[in-house]
Amino acid sequence: MDWNELKDLDFPQLQLDSEDQRILKVLAERLQDNYPYAKANYAGQMIKPPHHLAQAAHWMTSFVNPNNHALDGGRATSALELECVVALGNMMGYEKPLGHLTSGGTVANLEALWVARQANPTTKVLANAQAHYTHERMSEVLGMDFGTVRADAHGRMDLQDLADQLSALKQSNRTATIVATLGTTGIGAVDPLDKIIPLAHSFGARVHVDAAYGGYFKLCSLPNTCDNDAFAAINLADSVVVDPHKHGLQPYGCGAVLFKDPSEGKYYKHDSPYTYFTSNELHLGEITLECSRPGASAAALWATLQKFPLVLGGAMYNRLDKSLQAAKGLSSTLNTHGYWTLEPAMDICIFSKPGASASEISARNRAFFESKAAQDIHLALFKLSREQCPWNLEWDQENLVVIRSVLMKPEHNSPDLWEAIANS
Ligand SMILES: Cc1ncc(COP(=O)(O)O)c(C=O)c1O
Repeated sequence: MDWNELKDLDFPQLQLDSEDQRILKVLAERLQDNYPYAKANYAGQMIKPPHHLAQAAHWMTSFVNPNNHALDGGRATSALELECVVALGNMMGYEKPLGHLTSGGTVANLEALWVARQANPTTKVLANAQAHYTHERMSEVLGMDFGTVRADAHGRMDLQDLADQLSALKQSNRTATIVATLGTTGIGAVDPLDKIIPLAHSFGARVHVDAAYGGYFKLCSLPNTCDNDAFAAINLADSVVVDPHKHGLQPYGCGAVLFKDPSEGKYYKHDSPYTYFTSNELHLGEITLECSRPGASAAALWATLQKFPLVLGGAMYNRLDKSLQAAKGLSSTLNTHGYWTLEPAMDICIFSKPGASASEISARNRAFFESKAAQDIHLALFKLSREQCPWNLEWDQENLVVIRSVLMKPEHNSPDLWEAIANS
């Protein structure tokens, strides 16, 4: 639906008086002030329009307004949420996953780190220097020691640095919770999880996977074999986060945290003098840190999974594969036009205008970004570190500002769009 159509929306079955209707018209006007997220010409940040089925299911359920904290407040939607957890967990290779939906990837990762701390209070969180900033911040919230592991030239966690840090911790009788990112926010790099797991086991470390962005690509074949090997090892990790509100076609407010060992639910154990009386069955509030949570998110995800089951080669796979093709197509079009590009690992393209020095090229990239926006083509920018930069240039500043394009929609698989981006 085009946003302009919001202005003509009619809600015949709702009890809306004339004042309500006037306010909604004003709201529809105010909502016009946005980037065109749902259109192909928006290829900037990680923003993907939800499927209309998900939106309809979410809206429908909002009339019941269930609360998935306890069965007291959301019987039907708690059952739907448990089905979603099984579907997401099975996609990751967990046989009997324990987990739940969250408001997003930040809270989902917080919970995974919190469980790691409950299991081992002195554990140190080790994450790729390119991991999402949330890990450092949430470690701070949890009072956990945090450190970064060097990224290699492809943005993947450097195994030697990881091994050295694990050895150093061992000297002081400590161990780590390694956060492996499968799909970094900046460039979509995939940490070598298949190699991290045996290393972790040899040092008694825990492994958490942040697949908030990349998790759904478990259904696909990625361009690099080593990245596919990493994805194939998720079933061996202790916990994993995936965000249905990124690639899973959901409206915002839908992340998920999953644990391999269902007995880890014990860390959440608490009693509530107010709830949990209606049934002896599991109340989701008994295994979550958040209390009230929208049953509507579970309903929307459940409905989406009926149409887009998480199976290899299915409808969800087809959509994601178009995104991978789009990144490949845009990258080779840009190459033909003389841009510098990084080989995309997922559906994120990083490219740059060529030039001599970091400051000059950064300025050219910023100008390019703005000139594209003026043409109604919306991209993003990214600060590329020197270690990840494969191009020869003079480093007169710390980072290089490059152009970043996240191609999350099947509509991005369009040679016309790639040409429009590449044409100066
Ligand atoms: C890898 C990764 N982890 C965590 C997050 C945070 O997720 P959210 O924005 O849903 O809180 C993001 C967001 O982009 C991400 O890409």
